[in-house]
Amino acid sequence: MAEKHAPDHLVIQKVMKHYGGGGEPALKSVSLNVRKGEFLALLGPSGCGKTTLLKIIAGLEKATEGEMALAGEGLDAIPTYRRDIGIVFQSYALFPHMTVDANIRFGLDMRGIKGKEADDRVEEALDLVKLDGLSGRMPNALSGGQQQRVALARALVIRPKLLLLDEPLSNLDAVLRKSVRVDIRELHERIGLTTVMVTHDQEEAMSMADRVAVMANGYVLQHDTPETIYEHPASAFVATFVGSPPAILLPVEKTGEGYGIGGTAFTPSRSLAAAIAMQNGKPVLLGLRSDRLSFADEAGPLTITGEVHSSEYIGGSWLVHVALGEHRIAVPTRERPPQFGEVAHIRIDEAEPLLFDPDTGARVAHS
Ligand SMILES: Nc1ncnc2c1ncn2[C@@H]1O[C@H](COP(=O)(O)OP(=O)(O)OP(=O)(O)O)[C@@H](O)[C@H]1O
Ligand SMILES: [Mg+2]
Repeated sequence: MAEKHAPDHLVIQKVMKHYGGGGEPALKSVSLNVRKGEFLALLGPSGCGKTTLLKIIAGLEKATEGEMALAGEGLDAIPTYRRDIGIVFQSYALFPHMTVDANIRFGLDMRGIKGKEADDRVEEALDLVKLDGLSGRMPNALSGGQQQRVALARALVIRPKLLLLDEPLSNLDAVLRKSVRVDIRELHERIGLTTVMVTHDQEEAMSMADRVAVMANGYVLQHDTPETIYEHPASAFVATFVGSPPAILLPVEKTGEGYGIGGTAFTPSRSLAAAIAMQNGKPVLLGLRSDRLSFADEAGPLTITGEVHSSEYIGGSWLVHVALGEHRIAVPTRERPPQFGEVAHIRIDEAEPLLFDPDTGARVAHS
């Protein structure tokens, strides 16, 4: 893992990318820093600009505006082939007519590295991705996970200054994904190579990366550690994009003396009530995460009252679906769940529940 105060290795400043045509820019203004030895995940929905950013870093696309530097050197001045950046794309794109060994050796040939030096490096790369003994195989005689590891070895063999991974796991089945995920993270721990990985899978990003940059619509919305992004999401979008299950957003209404959600009673804590009052009657969105909800015997501070609709057994515990007017929330419990139609009080087990402005999605601070 990268030192918290390791120097910046890759610096991206106000990068904008317009592919031309009438459309919006793919990247509007992106600034990011990646520390030496750090593993950064670029996380965001399809079309938000992740691959575009990766391609600009690699030199496969040119930024319309903005600057980048790698290890203190401006990238603009360095041609693509001299950037010493290893890339692994979603489709492994191995040369099908070449053995594993030849596939990995290719990048060395291109750089004029031959003989014993090349042999040693290929062996080292095979060893790093745990493919020893398979060097003579053809790609079509390998499993998907093995092919992906050859692609990784091919990127590593050039001893890059930076490793770029674009959805490297998305072609693998669910079981393989998890194991290659651990392999990549382990490899990163061992060699400490500065890595930027693109993914739209929040679980992948949160579990693998030292820091995550959440992107949407050509912007980076938040760039921080997985813990901070989960505990302190900067906006409603981030809150509903991370976590399994992610947060759901419910509008809090003022009802005479008190508050309600979907027409049912909601009792805020003092600080939450103060934060809501600061909005001057404008509704606010309360962000709730299932893992912070539990059943309570009676209504009290930070409880919501609803009606039980259904429950599902998920092995050792239940997930109970409770209706709050037209809204639904899922509450986990290890006790036998309440029955259909029963009134249930749900406690929010969080000191400062998430609150958002419904117009801008911005986080509303507690006083
Ligand atoms: N070569 C191109 N020419 C024109 N527009 C492009 C080009 N490549 C990408 N775009 C557009 O730029 C935007 C960002 O695309 P990009 O491939 O970076 O998204 P992404 O975040 O990688 O999405 P995904 O998760 O689907 O791979 C999209 O609207 C896309 O249509
Ligand atoms: Mg992409």
